[in-house]
Amino acid sequence: MCGIVGYVGKKQSAEIIRDGLCRLEYRGYDSAGIAAVSGGVIDVRRSVGKLHLLTELLKTKPLAGTTGIGHTRWATHGKPSEENAHPHTDCSGKIVVVHNGIIENYQELKKSLSDAGHRFKSETDTEVIAHLVEKEYHGDLLAAVKSALKQVRGAYALGIICADEPFRIIAARQDAPLIVGVGDGENFIASDVPALLPYTRSMIFLMEGDFVDLTPTAVTVYDRSGAVVKRVPETITWNAVQAEKGGYKHFMLKEIFEQPQTIQDTFRGRLYPDDGEICLDGVQFNAQLISSLSKIYIVACGTSYHAGLVGKFLFENLAGIPTEVDIASEFRYRDPVLDETCLTIVISQSGETADTLAALRLAKQRKSPVLGICNAVGSTVSREADHVLYTHCGPEIGVASTKAFTGQLTAIYLLALDLANRRKRIDKSVFKQLLTEFWKVPLGIQEILKKSDDIEALAKEYFHNKDFLFLGRNLNYPIALEGALKLKEISYIHAEGYAAGEMKHGPIALIDENMPIMVIATQGKVYDKIVSNIEEAKARGGTIIAIATEGDTAIKTKSRHQIYVPPVNELFSPILNVIPLQLFAYYVAVSLGCDVDQPRNLAKSVTVE
Ligand code: M6R
Repeated sequence: MCGIVGYVGKKQSAEIIRDGLCRLEYRGYDSAGIAAVSGGVIDVRRSVGKLHLLTELLKTKPLAGTTGIGHTRWATHGKPSEENAHPHTDCSGKIVVVHNGIIENYQELKKSLSDAGHRFKSETDTEVIAHLVEKEYHGDLLAAVKSALKQVRGAYALGIICADEPFRIIAARQDAPLIVGVGDGENFIASDVPALLPYTRSMIFLMEGDFVDLTPTAVTVYDRSGAVVKRVPETITWNAVQAEKGGYKHFMLKEIFEQPQTIQDTFRGRLYPDDGEICLDGVQFNAQLISSLSKIYIVACGTSYHAGLVGKFLFENLAGIPTEVDIASEFRYRDPVLDETCLTIVISQSGETADTLAALRLAKQRKSPVLGICNAVGSTVSREADHVLYTHCGPEIGVASTKAFTGQLTAIYLLALDLANRRKRIDKSVFKQLLTEFWKVPLGIQEILKKSDDIEALAKEYFHNKDFLFLGRNLNYPIALEGALKLKEISYIHAEGYAAGEMKHGPIALIDENMPIMVIATQGKVYDKIVSNIEEAKARGGTIIAIATEGDTAIKTKSRHQIYVPPVNELFSPILNVIPLQLFAYYVAVSLGCDVDQPRNLAKSVTVE
């Protein structure tokens, strides 16, 4: 979950790498460092903390060299410290490594290298790679890296340079993302696309087991067997501005406000309400599979898991397919009953979440067809799944997922509606009507966003509270979970999401006058039930903030505050109802002075188990 950038060309590398690392800081920000080769010597700058500290260091101690590698770290082995910051060097200081991933057998390697006289300077697993390459080096860095990696078990994306070969970077990937940027007289490596957007749009997505030899004028890719392979560069069409804050105070706020657009992007080329049609590119289920599906497993983590919980309602109620939803880290160890009649859907914004990938691989092993719902184009999930439904939300930089969540929901709705139609579970005219209502969801979101000032005022009234409860029922129960997750991850306030009907079985004991309770109480078949739950909470002194449907005046007598959302078919209500919860969490975190885009202890992409 760290970020890597490398440059080999004619320009000074440090500034390009530093700039690229800033665009990858969402992947980790415990420490950062850059190494560059100049005059046959490698120099390294490292600092603990965020990138701006490295930037300051480079001002006082500039780094020369037209070949370099850099890293922004999310600590796994060893505390955040300068010694543990990447890049890491061998004994001679001639071989330098940046790494994302985990070397599982590093302790045994470290012992045998230490016994052979290698001196270690850090507590990291990564440093063993520098020393292994040193041991294997006989004048050819590529050959040394290949031999070294044969001894390594684990996950890695690596960039390696050598003082004796100053115009060369060797990179490798196994179970961690790495791309190559192809330039004119210069070439790059990076963990993710945004790092390289200002420099090139021609990018190669490496496959598992690939090695790459980069010089200013050539990129040579080898597969794990050592054979040269042709990996055709893809042209990335993302606008560079998409990866910037675009006038908003934080990426998270920008991403919340982008949602009317990003949902339309997920619709694009797929949803045709006038023709009553859905066309899903990337999903080629044959008629046999569609009619014989016995079960769907949805597997994901965090926010993506919450999207999956909404999916369960849709696949069961619309398409009539029994559906289970699993947290990926549980699924992989619980020996699920899977076969070729079960469809496994893995949901992942990044497409790199280690547990989700493991679940995908388990499902494939057991012959279950796998569909990935992914945002990151070219990510591992998208390459390994049998079918891919991209959410097309553009890069999500804020660690707290917002637009990716509504993109995932949108993709799930499209799929569930399509399956319902193709399995003939839904009348044509009802299907067409639903598509028309679905099409209008972005307009509803626009209306809610206009209320952001009111939600900010509410957040300012409540940001001192220490605990929050979020309640919802039915389709909106997962939205209560998501509201609580958003609040806790960016404001560090304790928040619990509950199915409102379950409250009386325990959590009601928590309620007193210090407990604000956010209740999703929009119109629908469980409206009366949730109003009863509001009464139960009020009777214990709880302060109710209701998310309610415009025109519901009765709710005013039941709740202290109301956030109104436009009326919408209940089926689509989760996509609207999450928006005020995202805004509320955002404004509470801002009122508390929290680092909204990079909350403590978190990383955007969790590529370790
Ligand atoms: O990239 P993924 O969707 O696989 O990531 C899953 C979770 O790590 C992610 O949703 C996490 O919970 C976010 N911090 C939520 O805002």
